[in-house]
Amino acid sequence: MKTKILSLLRDSKDYVSGQELCEKLSVSRTAVWKVIHQLKEEGYQFDAIQNKGYKMIAEPDLMTKSEIVSRLETTWAGREIQDLKETDSTNADCKRLAEQGAGHGLLCVADSQRAGRGRRGKSWESPPGTSISMSLLLKPGILPEQAPMLTIVMALAVARAINELGEEPCQIKWPNDILFHNRKVCGILTEMSAEMDFINYVVIGCGVNVNQEEIPLELQEIATSLKREMGTLISRAKLVSRILYFFEKVYDQFTQQGNLSFLQVEYNNLLVNRSRQVRVLDPQGEYNGTAIGINETGELLVETEDGKQIAVYAGEVSVRGIYGYV
Ligand code: BTN
Repeated sequence: MKTKILSLLRDSKDYVSGQELCEKLSVSRTAVWKVIHQLKEEGYQFDAIQNKGYKMIAEPDLMTKSEIVSRLETTWAGREIQDLKETDSTNADCKRLAEQGAGHGLLCVADSQRAGRGRRGKSWESPPGTSISMSLLLKPGILPEQAPMLTIVMALAVARAINELGEEPCQIKWPNDILFHNRKVCGILTEMSAEMDFINYVVIGCGVNVNQEEIPLELQEIATSLKREMGTLISRAKLVSRILYFFEKVYDQFTQQGNLSFLQVEYNNLLVNRSRQVRVLDPQGEYNGTAIGINETGELLVETEDGKQIAVYAGEVSVRGIYGYV
């Protein structure tokens, strides 16, 4: 009911009467009043005029279930949500719930994380009130070796959602980072529980720097926030709902088609690595080359100095000019 009231009031340019809310939701006036009261306590502001009703005049930037659901345009992604004010890591939450039987599409969000995790054992900063920490649970009918393609799907979904916000496009640094003006605004951490030939579940975690005014000094060279780059405050819940919208669309296309050829052109146009000198940190030994773009399975094609073309499946790829690689 809270979700419905939120979207009815947000979508209406005019006052909505208590009577109308009661009728639309088939609940009593007292029930409506209680929800309005609750919303006020959460920081929403309403103008209330006798005989006219309520009009929403200000909304706080909350990462709550009702904020996200009231904006959701998906069929399955995020239709179950766990929202926490603070947690250790939303990826850890999602894995715990998956082990307890949670289903495909569960979304775990938090306003902040105490122990946010990045790739390769690094930590991830998720300050309260300004960042997005979200993790999506998937039970895809694909083989474990195809799972890295899901990171590509999420990166494109995040890029599309960010690119709706402004005129300047963001860029994707294959495979996990989204950059704005060469600095990271989003990191993706994909984790999997699988047997040799069967995926139990995949958790895709996304951390987005949204409204931070300040970035810790030691990260300023490599990280930024959307607010710092675009100059405007962005609704985190709205951005989450748009990421889920695009993710569901692209994921469904991917699972129908079985590969990523349908997104190659769009993805490669956003790829910061493209036509740039890269260093591939392969466990067998590092090598340099020029990145060409992804292939239809999401691998990064790199042309080495001796003219060979290598498809990089996973791993660290540094791009000359980005994150201090000169
Ligand atoms: C990286 O760039 O190294 C990946 C960062 C991923 C951070 C997100 S925030 C939500 C989810 N929960 C975590 O602990 N990590 C991911």
